[in-house]
Amino acid sequence: MVQAVLALATTLLAIASQHKHKRSSFYDRNLNTVQAIYDLTVFPKEEQRRSKEANDKRKDNIPIRTNGSSAVPAGLFAATASGRVTPLGNFSGFEDSIEYFFALAPVPLPPLYGVFKGAPVVEFTSGCPEVAASVVYLEQYVLNDTLATNGQYINSLKQIAFWRFDDMGAVIAYDAWIRNLNLWTALTFGYSEDLFSYPQVQAAGIAGLCGAVQERCVGANQQYPKSVPIPLSEEHFGVSTCIETLSAKSYGSYDETWGDNVVCRAVHAQLTPLRPEVHCPHVGPTGGAKCAAESYDDAYFASDQRLFGAPQGQTFACPCEEDEDEYEYEDEDEGECEDED
Ligand SMILES: *[C@@H]1O[C@H](CO)[C@@H](O)[C@H](O)[C@H]1NC(C)=O
Ligand SMILES: *[C@@H]1O[C@H](CO)[C@@H](O)[C@H](O)[C@H]1NC(C)=O
Ligand SMILES: *[C@@H]1O[C@H](CO)[C@@H](O)[C@H](O)[C@H]1NC(C)=O
Repeated sequence: MVQAVLALATTLLAIASQHKHKRSSFYDRNLNTVQAIYDLTVFPKEEQRRSKEANDKRKDNIPIRTNGSSAVPAGLFAATASGRVTPLGNFSGFEDSIEYFFALAPVPLPPLYGVFKGAPVVEFTSGCPEVAASVVYLEQYVLNDTLATNGQYINSLKQIAFWRFDDMGAVIAYDAWIRNLNLWTALTFGYSEDLFSYPQVQAAGIAGLCGAVQERCVGANQQYPKSVPIPLSEEHFGVSTCIETLSAKSYGSYDETWGDNVVCRAVHAQLTPLRPEVHCPHVGPTGGAKCAAESYDDAYFASDQRLFGAPQGQTFACPCEEDEDEYEYEDEDEGECEDED
C-alpha cells in the first residue's frame, strides 16, 4: 500500500516537472553563489556553537567578524570585486566588499540580542551566466537562552541586489540596496522610527561610539587625542575630545549613512577591529573619505564608470552573444547588441 502511494506520488511529480521549464545550469550556479553569500551573515545556532565538529565547517558570520576576508570561502567573490551597498557606500576590492557584506551582520547584543537566523533568497532571476538579480530577507530573531524572548522573531531586513559574475562564477560587481535601514535599526533597539531624532538618544549614541573608538583605535590609529593627561579620568583616553567633535556634526540617518555624520561612523566603527589602519580614519574627525561629505549624485550615480569599470547601464546587462565570456567593454560601445542578419 505504502509502495503504491509512493509510486503514484513519483509519477505525479514526474508529470508535474514536465510542465516546468528546465532551469539552466548557470541559473542554479548563480543562485547557489548568492545564497551562499547571504548564508555567511547568519549567526550560528546554539547547537552549532556547542559542537566542535560543526564549528570547523560552519558557515556563519563569526569567522569573518573575527578574521576578516581570510575567512571567506573561495569562489564567492573575485579579487577585484567592487560595488555599492546603498545606503552604506561604494567598495572596491575583495577585502572591502567582504567586510561590508558580512562583518556588519549582527551578533547578539543588548537590548534585544538579535541575530540573523535565516537568509532566504526569496526572489531570483538570472537570464545569462554573467548576471543575476535577487531579493533576500535577512530574518532577525532573539538569541539568548537566559531571556524569556529567546527564539522570538524580531524583524527582517530586505536587500535587493544586481550581481555580475566572472567566467568562474565568482561575483565581480554588485549593486545592492538595503531598504528601510533606519526603521529596521530603530525596531532592532525596540523603538519607533523617530528614535534617533531625540537629543538624549543622540548623546548616548555618541558617548557609546566614542568609548568604542578610543578603545579600538589606538597608537598610530588613534583619531581623537587625549586632551588632558589626567590618569584614570575620561579625558585621559580622549573620549571627551571625540564627544565634542562628533556632537558638532549632524547625527544623520541610517537611511543615508554615507556622509560626514555620526551614524556613518557608528557603522564603520564596527569594522575597526578588523583592519584598524583602514577603518579608524573613517571614524575620525575628517571621516577619511568614507564618512565625508558626499554629494548625492557623486555617491550614487556619477561613480558608476569608476566603480564598475564599465559604461553606465552595461554592468548588469547580459552581454551580446559574441562576447559572452568577457567582462570587458569598449568605451564607445553604446551597450546595444547588433542585430543578426
Ligand atoms: C581566526 O584565525 C585563526 C588563525 O587562522 C584561527 O585559529 C581562528 O580559529 C579563527 N577564528 C575564527 C572565529 O574562525
Ligand atoms: C543574555 O542576556 C543576559 C541578560 O541581559 C546577559 O547578561 C548575557 O550576557 C546574555 N548572554 C549572551 C550570550 O549574550
Ligand atoms: C566611491 O565614490 C566616491 C564618491 O563619489 C568616489 O570618490 C570614489 O572614487 C568611488 N570609488 C570607486 C572605486 O569608484
